[in-house]
Amino acid sequence: MAFFSMRQVLDEAAKGGYGVGAFNVNNMEQIQAIMEAARETKSPVIIQASRGARSYSQDKFLYHLMLAANELYPEIPLVMHLDHGNSVETCKSAIDLGFTSVMMDGSLMPDGKTPASFDHNVKTTREVVEMGHAKGVTVEGEIGVLGGVEDGHGAGGSGLEHVTDPDQAVEFVERTGVDALAIAIGTSHGAYKFSKKPDGSVLKMGVLLEIHKRLPKVHLVMHGSSSVPKELQDVINKYGGHLKETWGVPIEEIQLGIRNGVRKINVDTDNRLAITGAIRKVFAESPEKFDPRDYLKPAREAMKKVVAERMVQFGQAGHAGDLREPVSLAEMAKKYAQAVVGV
Ligand code: G3H
Ligand code: 13P
Ligand code: ZN
Repeated sequence: MAFFSMRQVLDEAAKGGYGVGAFNVNNMEQIQAIMEAARETKSPVIIQASRGARSYSQDKFLYHLMLAANELYPEIPLVMHLDHGNSVETCKSAIDLGFTSVMMDGSLMPDGKTPASFDHNVKTTREVVEMGHAKGVTVEGEIGVLGGVEDGHGAGGSGLEHVTDPDQAVEFVERTGVDALAIAIGTSHGAYKFSKKPDGSVLKMGVLLEIHKRLPKVHLVMHGSSSVPKELQDVINKYGGHLKETWGVPIEEIQLGIRNGVRKINVDTDNRLAITGAIRKVFAESPEKFDPRDYLKPAREAMKKVVAERMVQFGQAGHAGDLREPVSLAEMAKKYAQAVVGV
């Protein structure tokens, strides 16, 4: 079966009132962990690769691993998405490779660090929407800027520096025609999001509710949505790691978002923590071991457990069967041309 477009999966999620996790990958074990979790929970899923992931893996490797995933798990609706594309060219190269969905993150300049002007964001995102929709590919845009830096990507600083302005969100959607809208509500990429359990002063769920009220039909995306559970931090620290105390986004806040238009939830850090903890445990408890499978297997299992838990919490579990066949990209392109895409 072909990959699904993200638009088809998010439209279905909107009908069912659930969210879909978008999990980052760099290698085979992470893809396997996600697919096993999806099979166990009967979930549709979005797998995403950042620019860093594409260069780490020589993206052709990643692409062919994704084809294998699709072949081996035919009952799982699977989207292949580019995370945080920094330019029109990056998005084009992902589309040319076979991604069925791309994010044009025009909230930052192509250096991936400097906050961009609204006009730059609109112009580049609109260009990607025109290019993507002509091929039936889904396009996510971002308005407002997240905190933190991942793999050289991000403006740094606190997540509160560039919280999304709801007026701008409305204008951005009107002028770009994006399928999904990432908003900034105080979260950051990475493990260090909040110094205590976040309340409304730092995690701006009110902004999300306001945007949903103004744009009730738009699929909202929450980035930086790892929950950074204490149990995962503890495993790392118990086996020689040094993570400072930190808090992520509580699951109940994500669920509040899902009840208010959030359809895609980006999670990377929680999986990184699970993998690292599992590997550290093997190294600490069995220092004589040197076969990579001895630590990659538990790492894969630890990630699968986190992903399966999120799939249940986001509500996508049990919904794989809602999406029987992918609408082909050619068909999606026709629908965009006729302006008949949507729920
Ligand atoms: O955008 C953030 C994701 O966690 C991807 O991170 O750019 O280090 O691959 P990365
Ligand atoms: P986390 O770092 O919270 O997992 O966020 C990942 C993300 O937003 C990827 O785009
Ligand atoms: Zn992100």
